[in-house]
Amino acid sequence: MNVLLCGGAGYIGSHMARYLAGEGVGVTVLDNLCTGHREAVQWGDLIEADLLDSAALDRALGSRRFDAVMHFCAHSLVGESMVSPYRYYQNNVTGTLNLLEAMQRHGVQRLVFSSSAAVYGQPNSAVIDEDHPKAPINPYGASKLMVERVLADAAVAYGLRSVALRYFNAAGASADGSIGESHQPETHLIPNVLRAVLGSGPALKVFGDDYPTLDGTCVRDYVHVEDLAQAHQLALSYLSGREGAHVFNLGSGHGYSVRQVIAAAEQVTGRPVPHTLAPRRAGDPAVLVASSERAQQELGWRPRHAGLQVMVESAWRWHRQAKF
Ligand code: UFG
Repeated sequence: MNVLLCGGAGYIGSHMARYLAGEGVGVTVLDNLCTGHREAVQWGDLIEADLLDSAALDRALGSRRFDAVMHFCAHSLVGESMVSPYRYYQNNVTGTLNLLEAMQRHGVQRLVFSSSAAVYGQPNSAVIDEDHPKAPINPYGASKLMVERVLADAAVAYGLRSVALRYFNAAGASADGSIGESHQPETHLIPNVLRAVLGSGPALKVFGDDYPTLDGTCVRDYVHVEDLAQAHQLALSYLSGREGAHVFNLGSGHGYSVRQVIAAAEQVTGRPVPHTLAPRRAGDPAVLVASSERAQQELGWRPRHAGLQVMVESAWRWHRQAKF
């Protein structure tokens, strides 16, 4: 089997490449390297191409027979999407349409798409399942929901088989420390906590402690990046036997507050986390916790790296000796 990994030089995409290669699947990475890292492409060839370049997509999809595409390419910063919505819709929606059309021209009928918890907006229940109303509160989430709609329409019109995986908060790194999370600028909590410990980043800003949560800080559902990779492979197998467009949440079902993440990092590293209190960050819901029951029931997904401590340990191994 050959899989084209669009965005395979990024955080989640590179862990996917490693996972698939370990399962004996042929991997080709397509990435424009705007946020991905050349050094993260250690499994399979790299094709440098942009989703907005249809001719380059044709060349990539024509370079060998692909059985499926996994699509991780996206601009994914909520705050940035609020100030640059055109850029987000163009990359995340127009780019995806180009990819889907190119897949159609080359007869590739299976897609696993990276969606997001951001499609739900402000949750109206403690635990979110897939039927929760979709009401994104920022262009990033809206762009992901638009693509989900396109996939549903493409299933009916063209028979495209797809799974959209709505990630909650990806965390951790590969067990061997060869790849991990590295964004420029870094906005995510766990990397910022660990960089503050190492002194390679500023003191952590805790964005708000007046939320209606156990300690006033925001609660998120962290899920290990290797567990996300496993879910993608299960999604691909799921599509062998099924038509249609499907969606699944991917989270651990447990929420942890910002202060609990800081405490876990202090325990794992044995060092204090320098931090200060800052105002709330625009667009942050107080609590985001997934029900992943559907993924467990239908895909047979069993996260193997549950627990905050395990994820922070894994991220710490990477950040202490990050190679890029
Ligand atoms: N936080 C801080 N300080 C920081 C960084 C984050 O206090 O330096 C807080 C945030 O306010 C939030 C929590 O830590 O409450 C987690 O923030 P992240 O930026 O790590 O993650 P988000 O929950 O904002 O983002 C995740 C995904 C996005 C997705 C979003 C959906 O990374 O892709 O969930 O809401 F869009």
